[in-house]
Amino acid sequence: MTERMLDTVTWTGAERVLDVGCGPGLALIAAAKRLTSGKAVGLDKWMVIHGEVNNSKAITLENARIEGVEDRVEVQDGDASAMPFADASFDVVVSSFVFHHLPHDIQHQALREIARVTKPGGRILITDDRTGELAAALRKLGLTDVSNRRLVFPIHLLSARRASAVVA
Ligand SMILES: C[S@@+](CC[C@H](N)C(=O)[O-])C[C@H]1O[C@@H](n2cnc3c(N)ncnc32)[C@H](O)[C@@H]1O
Repeated sequence: MTERMLDTVTWTGAERVLDVGCGPGLALIAAAKRLTSGKAVGLDKWMVIHGEVNNSKAITLENARIEGVEDRVEVQDGDASAMPFADASFDVVVSSFVFHHLPHDIQHQALREIARVTKPGGRILITDDRTGELAAALRKLGLTDVSNRRLVFPIHLLSARRASAVVA
């Protein structure tokens, strides 16, 4: 599913990519493998989910090293609802299996943040279940080319593009 998500981008290799809630780095590392001069940045608040204790920046960086992409990967501590990045910082923003962990109001704040940090013309790709409401929220934020297609039930790939200014 991660590769199918990333296959929807026409990569140049120079992109700045953000993986929101990167966890151990599945999408982060897969994206980094598609880069040459670009950078893949992971953001996470390192929650313990389903008793899984191996969730930390050190483990994600070690995974990147094992996969041979440590030169193209950065990992930052932070919350999806208040990201430590300037406006329009990323060409591609991905997030997989994070949104269903977020409370409703935080979901909307995180979408607003994703829209804010995406460059005009940049792509947003979210893999999760029940993405229909997220698609509607992205449209309200002024994002374009919003599509929501099923990968494997109940998992959907939500895709959008930031055309211009984000609705406040
Ligand atoms: C199920 S894991 C998915 C990890 C990874 N994206 C993947 O597909 O393997 C969910 C991740 O979201 C992170 N997370 C949950 N809420 C977050 C938030 N508000 N801000 C940043 N990360 C968050 C958790 O710490 C965890 O690493």
